[in-house]
Amino acid sequence: MIGIILGTRPEIIKMSPIIKECEEQNLDYFILHTGQHYSYEMDRIFFDILNLPQPEYNLDAGSGTHASQTGKIMLGIENVLLKTQPDIVLVQGDTNTVLSGSLVAAKLNIKVGHVEAGLRSFDHSMPEEINRIVSDHISDYLFAPTETSSQQLIKEGIEPEKIFVTGNTVVDAVYQNIKIAKEKINTLKDFHLFPKNYILVTFHRAENVDIKKRLEGIIIGLKLIKDYFSLPIVFPIHPRTEKMVEKLGLSLEGIDVIPPQGFLEFLQLEANAKFVLTDSGGLQEETCILRVPCITLRDNTERPETLEVGSNVLAGVNPLVILNSAKNAVKENNWSNPYGNGNAARLIVDICRLATKEKN
Ligand code: UD1
Ligand code: UDP
Repeated sequence: MIGIILGTRPEIIKMSPIIKECEEQNLDYFILHTGQHYSYEMDRIFFDILNLPQPEYNLDAGSGTHASQTGKIMLGIENVLLKTQPDIVLVQGDTNTVLSGSLVAAKLNIKVGHVEAGLRSFDHSMPEEINRIVSDHISDYLFAPTETSSQQLIKEGIEPEKIFVTGNTVVDAVYQNIKIAKEKINTLKDFHLFPKNYILVTFHRAENVDIKKRLEGIIIGLKLIKDYFSLPIVFPIHPRTEKMVEKLGLSLEGIDVIPPQGFLEFLQLEANAKFVLTDSGGLQEETCILRVPCITLRDNTERPETLEVGSNVLAGVNPLVILNSAKNAVKENNWSNPYGNGNAARLIVDICRLATKEKN
């Protein structure tokens, strides 16, 4: 039996191709939702839109400090794993859900498969970097999206036999859903937008929104871009950002703030944007896949492949650097996508099936 653990928006999206593959292959599996994300538009909407089965378990852990959130999730996962005894547990990415899931499973001697292994920003001040490092080093199956991430794991001393270069399941998710989006909805029309005539922005990282100076830098940068390009800036706002803008008394006047969008709506907004400004990990990958220029509002990235192919540039949070990066946003978008051809979920599930057989 395979235990799929997830808890936040990007995990639901990037695990969805794996869940679909388990369904298609009629495998014995269950979904454990930690409830790290819980607002309708950060959680349920994705199960509805992506036609995913209800999680068998939901821990309703919710928000909290790192220790309280991680501790609560760990206790809940331990209860479920003791009861269900899966052969392998899958976690995806770098959230507190991933750290908790991999730690609990490893200590119960249950095999751990880490989807999206080997990413490194080399910035230990990011909670995600700690989560990635710990999870990678206690995992038994490391599903690295690219050769670069695989090499990083080898450099850190992880046995090559444990590492599988599979591509990233985000490619599967984009390919599977972009067509469905086209058939079902017209988000641009709904928001009175025209292709390549608006700019899309998302940011939510703790290091950007919890620090007033950095948050202000980004907001000033966005306003400079709005003045320079005279185009709408569409901003589906993450709840963390919304709360911090209000708490720090800042204003987003002039920016078209909208609620977080469902995946189909968001893919359409992303695919048709002139360019994207973001601090999201998933967006750096998706813009690369969709061939839309990306400007990353961070000082570093664990997705160096996007910098190498030229789909992405790092701009940090200095307003003038953000503006200049936007002015220079690449016009040529014929780069190749380094994240695979959309069969990552199939490869990962096939390897998990072998793990299940080995145990029995
Ligand atoms: C988490 C991940 C981050 C990931 C992001 C995806 C960690 C350490 N961080 O950040 O790596 O990029 O998810 O979006 O795991 N909130 C709501 N409703 C929700 C969820 C959150 O209102 O459904 C608000 C709460 O005020 C909460 C805050 O957002 O305190 C932060 O939520 P949390 O899950 O701690 O971290 P994220 O910033 O979402
Ligand atoms: N996304 C979405 N609606 C939104 C914003 C993002 O569906 O309003 C999707 C996006 O396409 C990507 C994922 O959410 O697949 C990225 O999530 P997020 O930026 O929260 O997390 P990160 O990738 O940074 O961990």
